[in-house]
Amino acid sequence: MAIQEILRMGDPRLLRVAEPVGNEMFASGEISALVHDLLDTMKAANGAGIAAPQIGVNLRVIIFGGTGKNPRYPDAPEIPFTVLCNPEIEFLGDEKEAGWEGCLSVPGLRGEVPRFSRLRYRGQDQHGTPFERSVDGFHARVVQHECDHLDGVLYPRRIEDLTKFGFTDILFPSLTPASED
Ligand code: NI
Repeated sequence: MAIQEILRMGDPRLLRVAEPVGNEMFASGEISALVHDLLDTMKAANGAGIAAPQIGVNLRVIIFGGTGKNPRYPDAPEIPFTVLCNPEIEFLGDEKEAGWEGCLSVPGLRGEVPRFSRLRYRGQDQHGTPFERSVDGFHARVVQHECDHLDGVLYPRRIEDLTKFGFTDILFPSLTPASED
């Protein structure tokens, strides 16, 4: 396990559609090793979540939550630590809500992004065991943001009002210096 370099916006590797995780990858321990790297990297950067493509691994694996109160998102509810491989999302209703997002691959910036309010997600944990959850609010937002990474989409492409896009220390002076990005 080790902290990995986080790719930044502009790197073409962030624009790829990631490959599904095959069952043999769970058995070999490859996914457990990847999850350790993702967790070390996410913790070091105070992230709310991270996707494998952000460390240059082109697989459909994301992790999020488990960090307690996140200094980058002090008002957000806590999310249990989750490893999600081969995720599928089913939106529950048409309702969307706008909320501020940042990204470890887009350091120093925040933007307001509309996301579906409620969804059900299905996938596998690091051992390949299937599970599903129905969630809403910030949890649903994080899942949509991280799953976008698996399809090569960074959140600035989701911003509908570009006047709501700027530098974190200007938009939210009280958040710094807790925020590293
Ligand atoms: Ni991100």
